[in-house]
Amino acid sequence: MTIPQFRMAGVIGWPVAHSRSPALHRFWLDQYGIDGAYLPLPVAPANLPAALRGLAALGFAGANVTIPHKQQTATLMDRLDDGARRLGAVNLVIVESDGSLSGRNTDGFGFIESLRAAIPGWRAPAVATILGAGGAARSIIDALLHAGVGELRLANRTRARADELRAEFGARVMPLDWNDRAESLAGCGLLVNTTSQGMVGQPALEIDLAALPVASVVCDIVYNPLVTPLLAAAAARGNPVVDGLGMLLHQARPAFAAWFGVDPEVSAALRARIVATLPTT
Ligand code: ATR
Repeated sequence: MTIPQFRMAGVIGWPVAHSRSPALHRFWLDQYGIDGAYLPLPVAPANLPAALRGLAALGFAGANVTIPHKQQTATLMDRLDDGARRLGAVNLVIVESDGSLSGRNTDGFGFIESLRAAIPGWRAPAVATILGAGGAARSIIDALLHAGVGELRLANRTRARADELRAEFGARVMPLDWNDRAESLAGCGLLVNTTSQGMVGQPALEIDLAALPVASVVCDIVYNPLVTPLLAAAAARGNPVVDGLGMLLHQARPAFAAWFGVDPEVSAALRARIVATLPTT
């Protein structure tokens, strides 16, 4: 099969208008002079199977998949990589040359790469605390366990969800009551907020950082605002901080590489372009 000159990809979500991915991939297409397009593809859940199968028919190189489709997409692929299989969730679909669909999950890669990019020489700490137990937390837990974190303390408002993740990921995950989150910071080398607290329109995450070692990295996956109240408080007491935009930018690299043939750079100019698309309210 000949590769078409003009290559297409997009992001499938419902809704999808808020996605930064079109701006991100457009930036890279322009930077590398690639003739192609990356489109927002609003697809209602009932239409997901037809939309995914339609990618090959339309000549798409593939698509990203976002909320609420990541789990269902995993059941509709011809093959999954190890991460997508472990998580039961796909964020990257690649249309192979025979039209079959490969599903991958690059969220964990994006998280680890954003830490590595922001903190030179970053290595997995012995102890980490994760706040929240939703879909984002699952990818981050999986990535941190694979990166070699020894103990992962997991505090969630709804304790049962943290217990479920312990059952899924094993004994290195230590579920905690939400009220014990401040104490869980003692001896930590990494704190990650995966809850929605601190996002524009949401109250700040309430947490007393007194027990957190000053050398501990503090990471928020919220990227709007870029500096959440948590990151501001952590930076003020001297902790190294990593904002949530890096995860978004780095998770996109394997997608761009698979579809367009270049492992793209996450540059300051790219960050500035995406920050400019964030609502200011
Ligand atoms: P995602 O898939 O993006 O991680 P999610 O599954 O909706 O989103 O998870 C959001 C996380 O934020 C959950 O851990 C949620 O806690 P619950 O499991 O108790 O719902 C957490 N969260 C949302 N609002 C919160 C609040 N007011 N205080 C503390 N945690 C909150």
